[in-house]
Amino acid sequence: KQVAVIGAPFNGGQPQAGVEQGPLRLVEFGLANQLEEMGYNVSYEPNDDLDSLKPAEDPVVQNLKNPKFVSRVTQKLAGQIEQHAKQGEFVLTLGGDHSVALATVSGVFAAHPNACLLWIDAHADINTPEATESGNVHGCPLSFLTGLSQGHPEFAWVKPILDLGRLAYIGLRDIDNFEKKTLREHNIMALSMHHVDKWGIGKCVEMCLDRINPNRDLPIHLSFDVDALDPTVAPSTGTPVRGGLTFREGHYICEALAETGLLVAADIMEVNPSLESDEAVFKTVQVGCSLARCCLGESLL
Ligand code: ARG
Ligand code: MN
Ligand code: MN
Ligand code: MN
Repeated sequence: KQVAVIGAPFNGGQPQAGVEQGPLRLVEFGLANQLEEMGYNVSYEPNDDLDSLKPAEDPVVQNLKNPKFVSRVTQKLAGQIEQHAKQGEFVLTLGGDHSVALATVSGVFAAHPNACLLWIDAHADINTPEATESGNVHGCPLSFLTGLSQGHPEFAWVKPILDLGRLAYIGLRDIDNFEKKTLREHNIMALSMHHVDKWGIGKCVEMCLDRINPNRDLPIHLSFDVDALDPTVAPSTGTPVRGGLTFREGHYICEALAETGLLVAADIMEVNPSLESDEAVFKTVQVGCSLARCCLGESLL
C-alpha cells in the first residue's frame, strides 16, 4: 500500500514563524522510515519551494491576512494531494499551520467526494472573513470548505465540497462566539473536552462516526491539530489551550479510525519546533510521528 507524505512547510495562515519547520522535523525524526518499516511504500514531497509563491505585496482583504500567499500555496498543494488520493494512495500531510486544510480537504474530497471529516482540535477553525477576530486564515478553513464563506476574491478556487453533516469535532475548548453560534445553528457534531470527560473517548469517536458515517462505508479524512492535545503532551504549538486530550486519548482516535479500514487521509498540523524548550519540541515531534503511525495501523493487534 502506497502512502504519499506531503510536506506543507507553511506559516502564512498565522503570525508565528517556525511552524513551517514542522514537516522537516517530523521527517528527520524518522517518520517516513518508520512507515516503511510498517510495510508501506512511502513517497515524500517536501514542497520546500513554497516561498517562491510569496507575493511581493499581500494586503489584508476582507479582514484576512496574507490572503494571496495562503491561497496560492494551498491551491498548489490541493492539486498535488488530489492526484495522490485519486491514485488510491493514503495521503499523510504534515503541517504547517491549519490553513493548509484548505488544500488537504479540497484535494481529498475531490478524489473521495462522499468522504467525511473528523476535525481534532482545541479550536473550531470555522470563522468567516467577516467574523474572524484575528484575521488568521488558520482559524477559517472550514468556513470556506463548507460554503459558509463565499465571495472572498482570493479564495474563489475553494469549492464548498464539505457538507456540514459530514463534519465532526473532538477536543474543542476555545471557540469564538461566532463559531459557537455556527456550530449550534447548523447542528454540527461538535464534542468538546467536556464531552470527552463525560463519555470517554471511545464513546465520543463512536458518536461522531454514527453521525457522519452511520453505515461505516464512507471514506474518512482525519485532520489532527496537535493543539487538541493537552499542552503537557504537545507543548510546541502556536495556540496552546490548557485542558486538552491526553496522550492516549489522541492516539485512541487515530487507532479507532485506522481500525475502521476507511481512513484515506490524515493531517498532522501546527507542530511548531521553534516554540518552547528542546524537550518540549522533542515531545511534540515524537507525538506527531506516533499519531501518524497509529493512523496507519500501528498498535492494532
Ligand atoms: N479562533 C481563533 C482564530 O480564529 C484561533 C484559531 C486557532 N487555529 C488553529 N488552527 N490553531 O484566530
Ligand atoms: Mn487549534
Ligand atoms: Mn478566542
Ligand atoms: Mn486548527
